Amino acid sequence: MTEPTATGEKPFLYVVVCACGIAADVGKLITAAQGRNWDVGVVATPQGLAFLDVQAVQEQTGYPIRSAWRTPGEARPLPPADAIAVAPATFNTINKWAAGISDTLALGILCEAYGIGIPVAVLPYLNAAQAAHPAYRRSLAGLREMDVLIGTYEPHRPKAGGGAEHFRWEEALDLLAPRLGPRP
Ligand SMILES: Cc1cc2nc3c(=O)[nH]c(=O)nc-3n(C[C@H](O)[C@H](O)[C@H](O)COP(=O)(O)O)c2cc1C
Repeated sequence: MTEPTATGEKPFLYVVVCACGIAADVGKLITAAQGRNWDVGVVATPQGLAFLDVQAVQEQTGYPIRSAWRTPGEARPLPPADAIAVAPATFNTINKWAAGISDTLALGILCEAYGIGIPVAVLPYLNAAQAAHPAYRRSLAGLREMDVLIGTYEPHRPKAGGGAEHFRWEEALDLLAPRLGPRP
């Protein structure tokens, strides 16, 4: 079977979605990316999938949401990524990614992106108690060393309902824009 290719000449953005309360709003990022001439495919962590309206996202992107590994011989459901936005990114996925753990499809894609040279932006969304853990600081330092672009969201107070109103979905696109060279 032939591999899918992005429609037209548009670059293809993977949006990796983790299991945060605000994941349900990922349509905002998809809309913004499509408005900036991206084709978009969503890769959700297995936990993150439960936070999404799968049908709505698939209708918006025109591609199936990926979450599980494909079986050997199965065609790739998405074209290759020109860039990746991890939004929202959990404490859990950030720490595992920085440590090179690849036990979800989302992490497998992120761990390989470095070696392939795909530009990646991550928008962490977590509370201050999680952010205080020493592993988190080390993880961010490791990701910076890997040239990952990191969003500016300030962790919210624990048990205070989150900070969705301060989370700027479009920041992922702003961060990636300077990394995208002219396309042939
Ligand atoms: C309702 C709900 C909201 C959550 N929100 C967050 C969050 O904003 N940030 C975070 O790091 N973890 C959050 N968690 C915890 C993660 O879902 C949990 O760590 C999970 O294992 C992350 O899986 P993933 O990193 O594979 O997506 C939340 C959990 C629940 C049940």
